[in-house]
Amino acid sequence: MTDTKKLDHEYIANTYARYQVEIVDGNGSLLKGDDGRDYIDLGAGIGVNIFGQKDPEWIAAVTSQLNRFQHTSNLYYSAPDAELAALLCRRTGLKKVFFSNSGAEANECAIKVARSYAETKKGPDYFNIVTLKDSFHGRTLTTLAATGQAMFHKDFLPLTPGFLYADPDDLEGMKHLVEENKVAGILIECVQGEGGVRALSKDFVQGVADLCREKDIVFMTDEVQCGNGRTGKLYAYENYGVLPDVVTTAKGLGGGLPIGATLLGEKVKDVFTPGKNGSTFGGNPIVCAGALSIIRRIDDKLLAEVVRKGDFVRSYLSGKPGIEFVSGLGLMIGVKTVKNENEVVAGMMEYGVLPLTAHGGMVRLLPPLNIPDELLKKALDALLKAAA
Ligand SMILES: Cc1ncc(COP(=O)(O)O)c(C=O)c1O
Repeated sequence: MTDTKKLDHEYIANTYARYQVEIVDGNGSLLKGDDGRDYIDLGAGIGVNIFGQKDPEWIAAVTSQLNRFQHTSNLYYSAPDAELAALLCRRTGLKKVFFSNSGAEANECAIKVARSYAETKKGPDYFNIVTLKDSFHGRTLTTLAATGQAMFHKDFLPLTPGFLYADPDDLEGMKHLVEENKVAGILIECVQGEGGVRALSKDFVQGVADLCREKDIVFMTDEVQCGNGRTGKLYAYENYGVLPDVVTTAKGLGGGLPIGATLLGEKVKDVFTPGKNGSTFGGNPIVCAGALSIIRRIDDKLLAEVVRKGDFVRSYLSGKPGIEFVSGLGLMIGVKTVKNENEVVAGMMEYGVLPLTAHGGMVRLLPPLNIPDELLKKALDALLKAAA
């Protein structure tokens, strides 16, 4: 065992079942292992490295800010977070942004916003948040409560109360929950990630948006994984013709540094007043300077490429031996294989490719959005060989 692996086993808390490879370097969509091999990266740090490793524009943006000042606290104005918030609002039509450091925190903030809005408008009994079964919203006790998968809840009870779970794509079930309970907000992933790479139906998402409008419920989409260009739109809700009241995002927004962002629409933009939420590192200038360079490059041309590559993956894999079906949107792809997904991943690693898995027995692919065609094709050939 290498020194790194020994240190890791001895000193890192035992929460991660790591693959055997140690990453020692990276370039674009390639990761170099301690075994000297170059692996094709189909995980992008779980949807983080939108433009791969050693992205020169992101490095330039981050280092330029590093050479000015690295952190100031939220006591003072600074340009990177103000410019990033403005860009996100102009690109989405939402009105204000609260910055934090992770997806879980972005969702915590969304839940606070929904509860605060409902308390003011309808009274303190309206605290319930409806999420979906098979969802994933984070690891804090409140976002675990929001996560509609019991396997993540066990050992940590009691979780934050006031969460209800609807079946994905069951609009009648959702309406029933809303009739029977005092609901502050509904939080959904338009494309469920960890839960199985499942794109919700258009009817369902539009129905939820309508329901929220009719009942004055805060409509929230979690774009931590499916956002930032991943599905071929800047944010996945755009595929559905809806505009949420709250959008949460993280991961790819930072391009490799930690960030969370909660975007607030017209209905809830004034929920916060000074002191009602906060974060030491939220809006950190280095992270925001890097994020600006990411969002500026997620333009129509890049998004069209994401759609093209996603279509290519679907047509290349669908109907091939060992493949049951392909799910997801854009470059957020789930592959249901006849073989167990872990066996397929092990095979792909042997062929020099690093994919992800998701619940429901899925091989999950979240490549850098700018992965070159020839690497993508090579990686898919490895998948087909491993799955056959
Ligand atoms: C949809 C979704 N929401 C929230 C989270 C939590 O994000 P973080 O790990 O940054 O707290 C994740 C992480 O995988 C996610 O996929």
